[in-house]
Amino acid sequence: MSELTSKHIVAVPPDDLATRRLFLGVASLAGLGYAAAIGYPVYRYLASPIEENAAASAVTEVALRDAQKLPPGSALMFKFGSQPAMLIHHRDNTWTALGAVCTHLGCTVQYVPARGVIHCNCHGGEYDPHTGQNISGPPPRPLKRYVVKLNDEAAVVSRA
Ligand code: FES
Repeated sequence: MSELTSKHIVAVPPDDLATRRLFLGVASLAGLGYAAAIGYPVYRYLASPIEENAAASAVTEVALRDAQKLPPGSALMFKFGSQPAMLIHHRDNTWTALGAVCTHLGCTVQYVPARGVIHCNCHGGEYDPHTGQNISGPPPRPLKRYVVKLNDEAAVVSRA
């Protein structure tokens, strides 16, 4: 074991100590600033979908102004929270509101009035437009169903 001798002790002039402390202080602040500059956008990127999903899942009802005037045999795409959905006015004068997210791999589906089906262009899945039941192709489950109520000003769609 070596002993500490006066040869090992190096006298540092007071100005150098102050300069080193200043350098370390500036370097620490710069490091914090750099971490914040990188970290905050990453935080926002990761947090935004979580916040949006929380806000979207809090939605329980959507009023579609003037949608009660939708002609029979047509559909209106809209967003229920963050999810695409469709309101369909059938030729028999009944109404259906369904989620428009395919239950296979999540593509957005479309109403095809000429064929009387809801079709998914991704892999050809099809659904019954009255019930949302999956009727052909790869979709494993029916589309999400909503409740539709009409009034003089709007079609009001709410969770089933
Ligand atoms: Fe719709 Fe595959 S995503 S059928």
